[in-house]
Amino acid sequence: VIDPCTLVLFGASGNLSRIKLMPGLFRLDQAGRLPEKMAILSVGRSQVSREDWLADIKSMLDAKFPKGYDQAVFKRFIERHHYHANPPDDPSSFTRLKETLSDEAIFPQNLAYFLSVRPSDFAAIVDQLASVGLTEEGKYWRRVVVEKPFGTDLKSAQELQSSITKHLKESQIYRIDHYLGKSALQNIMLQRFANTILEPLWNKDYIDHVQITNTEQLGVGERTQFYDATGALRDMIQSHVLQTLALTAMEQPASLNPDDIRAEKIKVLEAIRPIPVDELEKYAFRAQYSSGEIKGEKVPGYLEELGDDSSVVETYAALKLFIDNPRWEGVPFYIRTAKRLHEADTRIAIRFKKAPLQLGNGQDQNWLIIGIQPRECIKFEIQSKIPGLDIATRTIELDGANRQEGDETIDAYEALLLNLMEGDNSLYLHISEVEAQWRLVDPVIEAWAKDRKPVHQYPAGSSDPEASKVIFEHEDQFWRYSI
Ligand code: BG6
Repeated sequence: VIDPCTLVLFGASGNLSRIKLMPGLFRLDQAGRLPEKMAILSVGRSQVSREDWLADIKSMLDAKFPKGYDQAVFKRFIERHHYHANPPDDPSSFTRLKETLSDEAIFPQNLAYFLSVRPSDFAAIVDQLASVGLTEEGKYWRRVVVEKPFGTDLKSAQELQSSITKHLKESQIYRIDHYLGKSALQNIMLQRFANTILEPLWNKDYIDHVQITNTEQLGVGERTQFYDATGALRDMIQSHVLQTLALTAMEQPASLNPDDIRAEKIKVLEAIRPIPVDELEKYAFRAQYSSGEIKGEKVPGYLEELGDDSSVVETYAALKLFIDNPRWEGVPFYIRTAKRLHEADTRIAIRFKKAPLQLGNGQDQNWLIIGIQPRECIKFEIQSKIPGLDIATRTIELDGANRQEGDETIDAYEALLLNLMEGDNSLYLHISEVEAQWRLVDPVIEAWAKDRKPVHQYPAGSSDPEASKVIFEHEDQFWRYSI
């Protein structure tokens, strides 16, 4: 049961709100998952009347659901919405916000603040909410969602943390990594620990190496300035890819309670060996896309989009990691992410060690592939005899789709919003996870920023740059492609 509450949405006219949050809230309303008494107060910089704001929300939904949507639900949904103008130069903004929210007939007093704003504004908003008494819990709860990125490196993450914890307890802070809201990611843990046949093999005795891949066909789009200050390591590896790794590699939690799960993720993230910067080329590889073709369409290169050819910021990043614990000793984890690669695919590929019977035909490999997106599946590749007189094997597949007809499709943000209102922060990050993730990538980001040599280029729409193979430990290792 969700308490009556008000969702206060900072940055409500921004992109995330348009494409994810508002449509997500609408779908939750449609599914009957929002409490009857729930209001949504959008906070934005510009002066907009309620009427205009409601028209804007309608246009967000029209864009997201071009085939139309339920008008009865729309009527209920739109009544929940209100708008508060918070011009940055107005010192009374937050006092006025408090006054607005004090109207109990409209706004239930449990308050969830969703900060979908520039990261540099997170701390100031929390300070100002606190200064007018809007973060104090008593009879009612107060929760704050901080969008990614939480800091831009370890130091800034720690500063942000100490700034917001002046006003908030850990239980009030919801740090987003939206990948944790994806059902396919939650499934990694369940598949591992709810199946007897996987767990005994899940270690250095049987596994040769693990590959975690998250590639996109999309480029950086309109976000050139943001992206050039960020890069693929910060944008994807520090968050989504390392969380996927944590779920793949962690020990079994004592229970499925949020604290137990997070404790195991923290342990494994902290057990990742720091990347030796003096031998960086053996462990880390970066590249940038140049112009090329995606789905038959010509697209410009990163430097052209940016309009600055001195940038060394990576749109492709691959790392080799080792986890220093008994389960994973000596097993390389190759992780990579890229924009504008030939395929959009997020998956975990596990290659097992060589089997005792080697027929010398190169067909000696067992793989287990866990598909996350676009296809949610679990697939084994095993060796089996080719029927006939000869003794020869070929690879056959045991392929299980995780998604079946009629299954619910819940977007990551819908799950996260629901959990927020329920007060369940298990799908949100603990500060120790954020810190461990920064600690790992910071030295690489720093070393790469200092190294101004031109970066490897790969044409948009191509597969991994040949040169990325330098990070493999053994000659017989190679990037796995789609499933
Ligand atoms: C975001 C990154 O966190 O995740 C984007 O900032 C990226 O660059 C996006 O495109 C990918 O998310 P999803 O859910 O589309 O895989």
